Amino acid sequence: MIPMRLMTKSRLSRKKMFSLKVFLVVLMCAWLIACGQSSTESKPAAVKIVDPASAGGKLLKKYCSDCHAPPAATVHVAKEWPNVIYRMQERRRMKGYVLMAGDDVDVLVEYMQQHAQR
Ligand code: HEC
Repeated sequence: MIPMRLMTKSRLSRKKMFSLKVFLVVLMCAWLIACGQSSTESKPAAVKIVDPASAGGKLLKKYCSDCHAPPAATVHVAKEWPNVIYRMQERRRMKGYVLMAGDDVDVLVEYMQQHAQR
């Protein structure tokens, strides 16, 4: 027979262990959530779309608003835009979004280059 005093003691510490585990799980979740909102990824800030009625302006709104605010064309110089837009196409693919049509990519690249940083 285990003495009553020891039993209560072990039951108590088991309770303490449980709270400690719960605490650790909560801590890990918080940490994982914080990592999910990766601070190293910088997404564009909201700006007004230049010439919103143009074909390019419409495509910018259509294809570039799903994950962040549509960026200002001036955040890149013209020669950088194609690569950024191809990378965003990959991001669409990764998220399972409908891909941008080839013609739309061309129009959008041209629009971004036209309004790019000089
Ligand atoms: C499927 C989600 C998604 C869509 C749609 C999307 N982006 Fe992004 N974008 C991201 C993520 C994630 C980041 C941050 C990581 C990175 O830069 O790749 C980002 C960052 C950016 C940046 C800042 C980084 C840089 O290279 O200057 C620009 C500019 C940008 N996106 C432009 C666009 C444009 C233009 C479109 C539309 C063609 C677009 N994005 C559509 C997910 C997306």
